[in-house]
Amino acid sequence: MKNIKLTRQELLSLLADMSIEEKAGQLAQIPISACMEGVTEPTGPMAEMNLTPAQIALSGSVIAVRKIEAEACAQVVREITAMQPHHIPPLVMKDVIHGHQTMFPIPLAIGATFDEGVAEDMGRCGALEGAVSGTHVTFAPMVDVVRDPRWGRVMESPGESPLLCAKMGAAMVRGTRGNDISAPDRLAACAKHFVGYGASQAGQDYAPIDVSRTELYNTYLPPFQACVDAGVDMVMPAFVSIDRIPCVCNEWLLKDVLRGRMGFKGMIISDWDDPHQLMYHGVAADMREVSKLCIGSGLDMDMMSFAHLNHLADLVREGIVDESTLDAACLHVLELKNELGLFHQPVKNDSNACQESVCGNPEIRKAAFEAAVKSCVLLKNDGALPLKKGAKVALVGSHANEHAILGGWTLDADTESTRTLLESFGADERITLVSPEEADVILLATGEKQQDTGEDTSKAHPYLTAAQMEELRRLHTLGKPVVMLLFCGRPLVLTDALPMCDALLNVWFPGSEGADAIRALVMGDENPSGHASMTFPRALGQVPIHHDRLSAARPHVENAIYVNRYIDESHYPLFPFGYGLSYTTFAVDASADGQTVSAKVTNTGAVRGDTVVQVYGRLQHSRLIRPEKQLLAWQRVSLAPGECREISFRITPDMLRMYDAQGAAVEAEGLCDIAVGEDSAVPFSLTVPMN
Ligand code: GLC
Repeated sequence: MKNIKLTRQELLSLLADMSIEEKAGQLAQIPISACMEGVTEPTGPMAEMNLTPAQIALSGSVIAVRKIEAEACAQVVREITAMQPHHIPPLVMKDVIHGHQTMFPIPLAIGATFDEGVAEDMGRCGALEGAVSGTHVTFAPMVDVVRDPRWGRVMESPGESPLLCAKMGAAMVRGTRGNDISAPDRLAACAKHFVGYGASQAGQDYAPIDVSRTELYNTYLPPFQACVDAGVDMVMPAFVSIDRIPCVCNEWLLKDVLRGRMGFKGMIISDWDDPHQLMYHGVAADMREVSKLCIGSGLDMDMMSFAHLNHLADLVREGIVDESTLDAACLHVLELKNELGLFHQPVKNDSNACQESVCGNPEIRKAAFEAAVKSCVLLKNDGALPLKKGAKVALVGSHANEHAILGGWTLDADTESTRTLLESFGADERITLVSPEEADVILLATGEKQQDTGEDTSKAHPYLTAAQMEELRRLHTLGKPVVMLLFCGRPLVLTDALPMCDALLNVWFPGSEGADAIRALVMGDENPSGHASMTFPRALGQVPIHHDRLSAARPHVENAIYVNRYIDESHYPLFPFGYGLSYTTFAVDASADGQTVSAKVTNTGAVRGDTVVQVYGRLQHSRLIRPEKQLLAWQRVSLAPGECREISFRITPDMLRMYDAQGAAVEAEGLCDIAVGEDSAVPFSLTVPMN
């Protein structure tokens, strides 16, 4: 690829030649609709934008929270570029969270694959479709560690384990950006939401968090460090506060931690209207103070609050904000544009025909299908699955004929053309679809509505609805096997439903190829291999409940008193993190030699299958309390019937390193208890020396 980037000197000369207004304008992100005739914006708090043509011309970026085509996008970029005094193109940014037009399973489902290759494929395919459709930057991956199913945004995360979030998030970054974001099939990536958003109190969106510095260093920051190490281009502060200072204007967090400790050199962009939200907090008295606080704390670009656009130039002219501060922020924006090659190539594709030929191509659909197959988690199977050829099958329930099985953040997907389960199963000649009364087996497709997951969808009652439970009860009384196909964006509380199901396949929101993937699994063409990326509670009162909770003063002991327990509920979840069944069975025989843990994995069943061998650890001694059990490593293994394979893991001290409240490392010493198996409930059986 010919060099389409400015030299460092050219970039600095451009910056030096820009006016204060221009530099402030580069720090503003406005809606793309502001530049499109007759288009309204599905905005959140922003009703009126009142942007002047001069302000639009100076804006450094546009955000598209809507379906948009390459030609229209190219036109906006060219118009702004032409109006901008130095013809600096705007960045086009969009939420390409789990695919762009071809939807992959939601990220929580991608986490359940425990397959970094799948995560990378999703990033790569989303970038290809996004780039050809005019986008430069995606607001992904979301790598918030999540432990509370009341929070609707758990669907956007790889899951509850810092290690799972770190590895899957880094894989998504690699897939999205590749080695050169100026390539025609790549997007710049953005890690979000920095940091601790998953700890929102009571699972309510936009609620405060109360996270200690040790929890930051040991739980919530590691996935972002992994994304920084993978080369992520942008970071988005979260709507929450640390030390009672909102992240978007938290100088310690953005300068000392993100840039200093973690080494991030890219661009920092606020979340939607978040600078303005300082006024709801009472942290800023007006938008001038908003702009001053945010720029002074290290925020670069302001998404949709227009604080910088309306006030920053004045603040600099009045000497309240030093021009060098403005220059530093503006340079981060120019550097990202330069890495994208925008100064010579503002538009990667302006042909709708090209967009249509690329989006939804067979290779992308195949990758989406495989991701959906690998992400579904078989939570129960008393033998009802896979279906027998020639079976008379009833396919009923709220999601049997539902197109909306894509999940949240499906801005460009064509939901209405998404194949439904009935369309997919109806085309399979190996079975006959009949009424429940006539059926040999009943498939009950049920669960959450797509629009009830994602941002602003917190639930105090994360259950199946009363009507869905009533339908299950009625079907159960027919006295024939009931297989639940569960659509969900979070671990619902399934305790009351489970006894009435002979099998339960959690399909999450499986994306554009989901119906065919579910059929392949139900028919036995594919074997389920997903493992729960979040713990499934037995009762909502157990939340937050997760595999890596810190040690208790009095550990739980069954049937004991004055220990860590409930008097009215089990101590344990319904399904533990890492849990997932297969149509076959596996035996795992683990051993340790020094810091090497080996596992002989045998397929002890009659069909080929994949499992995820997980290694959990717990330090026997440390001056800081530590997780009762934490995921240290895993490997997916695919085995033919009867096949045995030995795999090994190196368990090294850095895997168990912790940090104290000052961020100082507390190295792992002494012995580490080790558990090896197919889910986090596996008992400790080995010990490994840390030195
Ligand atoms: C939303 C979300 C963020 C998203 C942004 C742009 O409020 O919090 O994840 O990327 O706005 O749509």
